[in-house]
Parts: sequence; structure tokens; C-alpha cells
Amino acid sequence: MVDYKNKIQEIRTNIQNCHLCELHKTRDITVPGEGPISSTIMFIGEAPGKINNEVGLPFVGHGGKIFDKILSLCGIERKSIFITNILKCWPPENKKPKTKEIQYCKKYLFDQIEVIKPKIIFALGTTAYETLTNKKIKIKKEHGIPIIINNIKIVPIFHPNGIRYIKGGIKTIVEDIVKNI
Ligand code: URA
Repeated sequence: MVDYKNKIQEIRTNIQNCHLCELHKTRDITVPGEGPISSTIMFIGEAPGKINNEVGLPFVGHGGKIFDKILSLCGIERKSIFITNILKCWPPENKKPKTKEIQYCKKYLFDQIEVIKPKIIFALGTTAYETLTNKKIKIKKEHGIPIIINNIKIVPIFHPNGIRYIKGGIKTIVEDIVKNI
């Protein structure tokens, strides 16, 4: 029988020891993700921010507060879901992840998905969605519309960090989540 707890710990250790791309030189702490392995829902963002890099946890600080508010409006308990990012290290100046960084790092994400086997993945923003699906998306038009890959429903939603540019703001993100759970 596979020991899933050990598996997820092994992935964490692999991330912590990773030197595959340049980002290991500038990171303080890796941000592997958090949540129970029994999670049926995963939320996947783009990359850790500066504060995440300091504490080793995803979606904390200002962006985390917005994220927590969204979860609470959806009736989702943070401790019941698995939260992670495409990149596990902070790209300095919060630069957009480079193709090479994504290519190296996505193996860890796919390993996490294989262990957790979620029913639903909410992809926060285009980078997350396009990495997960290999499909280009116009998020302004296609947010909230799921596709199924390997029995997992993958739903593109707006990234909460860009909330001030999103028509409808938090309400739109909440509606996209609620109609898909
Ligand atoms: N913090 C994260 O952990 N991920 C993001 O995508 C943005 C902020």
C-alpha cells in the first residue's frame, strides 16, 4: 500500500533540496504548499510572493487576506483544501515565471496532484491554467468554465491579486468557485 503521507513529505523534501533553476539562489524558504492529503479541492496560484518566501507558506499577507475572504464567502474552510503554486520559489520582484522555471518546477506540482488526487482544481490565473492544461486561455471570457482532464475538473478563475482589474471583483471569483463545487 502506498503511504501517501510519506509521499507528500518526500515531494516537500525534493522541493526544499531543488537546485534545478536559478531561483534557488535567491529564495529564502521554498513554498511547497499546504493542506491535507485528503483534500478534494486544490487551489493553484502562480508563484510565491516575497512574504511567502519569508514564511514558506502560500497565500499569506495582503493577498492571503483576499484569498481567505474569498474562501469564506464560498463556505470553504482553508484547512480542508490543498493550496500551492506552479512555482515553489519566489521569483524576485514578483516577475512572471519563465518557461524554463515552469518546466523544471511543474514536475513537483504534478507529483502533488498524483498523490492528492483532487476532484477539482481551481487554477488561479492564466499561468496556472495553461500549465495544468497545456491550453491557451482568454481568462476574461473563459473564467469559470471547467474542463475535465484525467477525471479532474480544472476551473480557471481570476487570480485574486489582480482583483482591482477584475470586472465584478471578488463576487465574480466567488461565483466561479461556488458554481463548480
Ligand atoms: N502568493 C502565492 O502563494 N501565490 C500567488 O500566486 C500569489 C501570492
